[in-house]
Amino acid sequence: MRDTVLVIGASGMLGQDICARCAPYFSLVTAARRAGDFTLDITDTAAVRRVVSQVAPDIVILCAAYTDVDGCEYCPEEAYRTNAFGAANVASACADTGARLLFISTDFVFDGSKRSGYTEWDTPRPLNVYGASKLAGEEWIRHTCPRHWIVRTAWLYGTGGKCFPRTILNSAREGKPLRVVNDQVGSPTFTRDLADVLLQMVQKAVPYGTYHAVNSGSATWYELACETMQLARERGSLAAEVPITPISSREWLSPTQRPAYSVLAMERLRWAGIPLPRHWKEALKDFMYRLDE
Ligand SMILES: NC(=O)c1ccc[n+]([C@@H]2O[C@H](COP(=O)([O-])OP(=O)(O)OC[C@H]3O[C@@H](n4cnc5c(N)ncnc54)[C@H](OP(=O)(O)O)[C@@H]3O)[C@@H](O)[C@H]2O)c1
Repeated sequence: MRDTVLVIGASGMLGQDICARCAPYFSLVTAARRAGDFTLDITDTAAVRRVVSQVAPDIVILCAAYTDVDGCEYCPEEAYRTNAFGAANVASACADTGARLLFISTDFVFDGSKRSGYTEWDTPRPLNVYGASKLAGEEWIRHTCPRHWIVRTAWLYGTGGKCFPRTILNSAREGKPLRVVNDQVGSPTFTRDLADVLLQMVQKAVPYGTYHAVNSGSATWYELACETMQLARERGSLAAEVPITPISSREWLSPTQRPAYSVLAMERLRWAGIPLPRHWKEALKDFMYRLDE
């Protein structure tokens, strides 16, 4: 018999790819606030307990989160309610029913002071509310649900949602000159590639604990924008030359302090024998192809 996987946050950008990737191998049940087999708000303790005990999943994949990073600065209570308390609700329900929990976390748990990839055993020190609320969610899960995988990822883009490469393309097609931050370095990651890693982790039943999973290589937002425009021109889907100017974080008005460097090293995936995701440039090319399909 197939294992049952409950995906919470199934309507989100990553959630859609996780569902597509898991559907052929598992009995899939979906939940999100406004869509899915179950409409579920993870901040509702009783509802989470009810859905998890009714579905009785073998594995819960929790990718629901309050992901508006600037919004978290303006509404910290909402950020902690969803990203920490909501995660705790799911962790308790999993612990009660014996389900294994896979939780998606973020590179923003780190402060960016390193200049080489952050490993799974580097000490988190978030600079912003989003990172702190996700870290609180991580800690709650570690204390509550022993059978967990926490997977930190970064700079996600995918065909199923609003994301940076899509925003750049839309602005460029409207002929708007672009100003893009060039002093933050990270790991751009295609949701489809991440979903593939998560599937392998679950299928191989890798040891519990904390993992990093991103596309290989690193880039600044400016480099990611330039590569996106270059690929679009090569594909003939961007006619005009649009000027693009590198700027510093200080010139980009935002309420959120972001790490200057948040590249993730994937030591635990390597040790678990999971092939590391391809280079971000290759993944971006694939994304652009699928976007035009
Ligand atoms: N995007 C990134 O660059 C990035 C980077 C690192 C880590 N992550 C993590 O990766 C995961 C997926 O991110 P994403 O960009 O795919 O997210 P997303 O597109 O913003 O989707 C978020 C999902 O969470 C659901 N949700 C939000 N609040 C909820 C609540 N209180 N109860 C139940 N469901 C709720 C949303 O459902 P509704 O649409 O119905 O509200 C939606 O399905 C998140 O855990 C995020 O923290 C993202």
